[in-house]
Amino acid sequence: MTNQTEISYGTFEASQRRSNELEKDLQKNPKNHILLTGDRPTGSLHVGHLFGSVKNRVRLQQLGVETFVVIADYQVLTDRDTFDSISQNVAELTLDYLACGLDPESGLTHIFPHSHVPELNQLLIPFLTLVTNAELDRNPTVKEEIIASGQKKINAGMYTYPVHQAADILFCKTTVVPVGKDQLPHIELTRTIARRFNQHYASGKAIFREPEALLSEAPVILGLDGIQKMSKSRNNTIMLKATSDETSSLIKKAKTDSERMITYDPSSRPEVSNLLLLASLASNEPPEKIAESIGDGGSGKLKQIVTERINDYLMPIRKRRNELASNMDYVKSVLRKGISHARSTAEKTLSEVRSAMNMEI
Ligand code: TRP
Repeated sequence: MTNQTEISYGTFEASQRRSNELEKDLQKNPKNHILLTGDRPTGSLHVGHLFGSVKNRVRLQQLGVETFVVIADYQVLTDRDTFDSISQNVAELTLDYLACGLDPESGLTHIFPHSHVPELNQLLIPFLTLVTNAELDRNPTVKEEIIASGQKKINAGMYTYPVHQAADILFCKTTVVPVGKDQLPHIELTRTIARRFNQHYASGKAIFREPEALLSEAPVILGLDGIQKMSKSRNNTIMLKATSDETSSLIKKAKTDSERMITYDPSSRPEVSNLLLLASLASNEPPEKIAESIGDGGSGKLKQIVTERINDYLMPIRKRRNELASNMDYVKSVLRKGISHARSTAEKTLSEVRSAMNMEI
């Protein structure tokens, strides 16, 4: 490891430029790519997840790109001790994915929890020999998560999960990972591990490809308090699985301001503007236009419009979610198929890895 170059956590601008090129290539050559995304199973999803990432995944799936969706049920334990509710959380997350349009029936989309893919997890061991403790210590996202978790004792999984995430990404020779900015250090680490593996253990042979981050243009969705990012722990969400009546009463309580004239101005009127943004994302009409049509109707009119548009948009998603929830055997079969496909893919990769590392007998 002594002559390796240090991990560069890169600049945001460079990542953005690469990401724009990648978007064009995905449109032109969807079959040249393998896409992988992942979530920690923390429960069911809210509209922030839908407009922030899931909608984009469905769009990419529709381009005809093969897509792996990892449910990171080991990783979730690094910052919260929720093992007692994991199977429930995995089921909720899968229901939301399917309801939103991720479609395993297409044969192109594979959803699986990583705890069920031993060959993927085994890649973690050689990968750990390719990074230093100091490099893991410097990961800016991990540093932030340690602070946010509020835990006094940090388990070693917290420092090493980015290497595990590299295994999630590399096991299926991923080319594209759609992510938000906070995940860029993990992609950089993954690229470094791929490169170092090829150099160090494979005499330069390209066993692993270096995947690229696809930065979504999705806006940051604030919660109904209009101040913080929408998040369950902040109690400011609209859950996909809420009923229309629940949605309506949540929006009624949303924070606004006292000016009657409704305008879209995110910096000086964050609460009103966030509501306009939600209505806009749900209806594809620019937020300024929606503001104009409300005019001096005040918060009452604004909330009425937002409620209508969100409920209309979510209606088919909620309907499908309810149907699926009464057929959990189907939901389980989706995961079983996903696991089986992920395992056969990971077995091939692991055998290439063993062969490169002189471990065949
Ligand atoms: N770290 C991601 C998160 O916290 C979840 C995740 C696990 C992931 N494995 C992944 C994301 C692989 C992208 C690719 O949201």
